[in-house]
Amino acid sequence: MSEILCKDSKLFSVKEYTSLKERFTLTGKMALVTGGAGGIGRSSAQAFAELGADVTLMDIPEKESYLKEICSLIEERFPGRHAYFVTGDVSNQESVEQFVANAVEKMGSVDVLHNNAGIILPEDCADLPIEKWNRLMGINVNGIMMVGRAVANQMIKQERGGAIVNTASMSAHIINPSPNEEYGFSYCASKAAVMSMTKSMAANYIKYGIRVNSVSPGVVISGIHDNYPEFVLKEAAKAVPIHRFGYLDEIADVVAFLATEAASFMVGTDVLVDGGQCIN
Ligand SMILES: NC(=O)c1ccc[n+]([C@@H]2O[C@H](COP(=O)([O-])OP(=O)(O)OC[C@H]3O[C@@H](n4cnc5c(N)ncnc54)[C@H](O)[C@@H]3O)[C@@H](O)[C@H]2O)c1
Repeated sequence: MSEILCKDSKLFSVKEYTSLKERFTLTGKMALVTGGAGGIGRSSAQAFAELGADVTLMDIPEKESYLKEICSLIEERFPGRHAYFVTGDVSNQESVEQFVANAVEKMGSVDVLHNNAGIILPEDCADLPIEKWNRLMGINVNGIMMVGRAVANQMIKQERGGAIVNTASMSAHIINPSPNEEYGFSYCASKAAVMSMTKSMAANYIKYGIRVNSVSPGVVISGIHDNYPEFVLKEAAKAVPIHRFGYLDEIADVVAFLATEAASFMVGTDVLVDGGQCIN
């Protein structure tokens, strides 16, 4: 049919619908997930494995035994899939080079990166000590940049493109208060930087067939809110039009989608998954 419609121009020929199932897959792909011991990371790793990828979960050395458990769980749940782990610190250049090389050694290559490790400071406030500010920026901003470019450079060497999904946040879109009801500056600024950097990375790497996009979760109970008082979370839930927080599945679904060919025309975009919190 497309040939009949557009006989003489390949560029403008209609490409008829193929199959979502055939495009929404990661069969044969190799995926690296940072912050892989955390709620969102361990969920996207499972989604990737369910779609057919082998995965490497990366987190800090203190989480090694938990990473082992998650890898066993993934291999049990998704027979035939391999799950590996590496440890390190996304805010340290040497460590990034080391764990990316380790992940590539374990998997043989890397096609997908969920660039996800991040922290929040419950004590964020206008007078936050600069050491704490620097630590947060080191992980949330420098980390995304250093891991993103190290993996992109590996993908460029492999000459078959790839997909990178950065974790930004609804806090890149709105200014939400800290538990102490102060409007701290660090977390929102760091996530706005991730959203902006996603666009620069996308513009830079698309010529190599590497698509870079970001996901912006709303509040999802994961581990990142461990030190938050319950009353603060109860208040926060009231601000969500869907009247609840998000589930880990609901973020992993979108990350997995962005990693597959089903999102092949998505480049440098941010997908908000927030139960409607940013509507107003
Ligand atoms: N949960 C939410 O409500 C929410 C909302 C918006 C954005 N996010 C973002 O999602 C991402 C994942 O968070 P989560 O909710 O799964 O929280 P989480 O605390 O469960 O997971 C974050 C993981 O990152 C790891 N990490 C911290 N510092 C690191 C470092 N220097 N090097 C390597 N790993 C490090 C932690 O050990 C942890 O396992 C973060 O970037 C976070 O900012 C979360």
